[in-house]
Amino acid sequence: MEILNGKIVSQHIKNELKSFVDNLILNGKRSPHLAAILVGNNGASETYIASKIKNCEEIGFKSSLIRLNENIAEQELIDAIIQLNSNDLIDGILVQLPLPPHFDEEKIINLINPDKDVDGFSPVSIGKMVLGMPTFIPATPYGVMLMLEHYNIETSGKHAVIIGRSNIVGRPMSILLNQSGKNGNCTVTVCHSRTKNIKEICLTADIIVAAIGIPEFVKSDMVKDGAVVIDVGITRVKDENKKSGFSIKGDVDFDAVSPKCSFISPVPGGVGLMTIAALLKNTLNAYNQQNRA
Ligand code: GUN
Repeated sequence: MEILNGKIVSQHIKNELKSFVDNLILNGKRSPHLAAILVGNNGASETYIASKIKNCEEIGFKSSLIRLNENIAEQELIDAIIQLNSNDLIDGILVQLPLPPHFDEEKIINLINPDKDVDGFSPVSIGKMVLGMPTFIPATPYGVMLMLEHYNIETSGKHAVIIGRSNIVGRPMSILLNQSGKNGNCTVTVCHSRTKNIKEICLTADIIVAAIGIPEFVKSDMVKDGAVVIDVGITRVKDENKKSGFSIKGDVDFDAVSPKCSFISPVPGGVGLMTIAALLKNTLNAYNQQNRA
């Protein structure tokens, strides 16, 4: 069994990005600039945003965090996006999700200039991805694809079972693994909350991507010997032994499942770090396209 080490792979990608930025600066160019909008102060969102900003700094990207109060009118958020859309010095824009309930997420995401949609959540980006056109790939599935590539994991002709059908992870993951080309060509089954016989379906999987948001959902009797298991889950569970009051759990019962696997990604230290590396790659792509560097 080999661990898919998100720390090592993401650092490798960040080193490449940092060299690119260092070169830009040497040539008198400006560095890429990511703008993040955070509405309210959801604890998990605060953590994710802080990590995105820190990682930008590490590789020499500029970043701006626009914090908006949870109680603002939707128009204020719309105005903030419009301003960023027309600012030539901003390359990538992301709105951290989830938004408070009185915002229409679909409408808000649709306002982001597709050339700056580094989360790849807009209908334009998703449509292009489905058609196999070059575009921004949502960061978590993109991070998983980069992980598969790094470890040279054979996907062609394999049966991939994805647990979860969210717009952010499960659905795009199914499209990417099914596409023709490198790290694709899988036969894909997407399971969700209404799927019958999840256990039996998972037992036929060569590759399992767990993205359902239920801690330790995938048990050892659901995994066949030699399977590749990718854990996308990040759930906070109460833990009085931790200073923060919680610990992070994945969707896979790691201790029980890992002995059966050929490869498995841990939580933490797996896909979460790859998500950030993928976002940074998307931001550099946005910069390059807009500046034709
Ligand atoms: N919420 C959970 N994951 C993500 C992500 O990748 N991007 C944004 N903007 N919000 C999220």
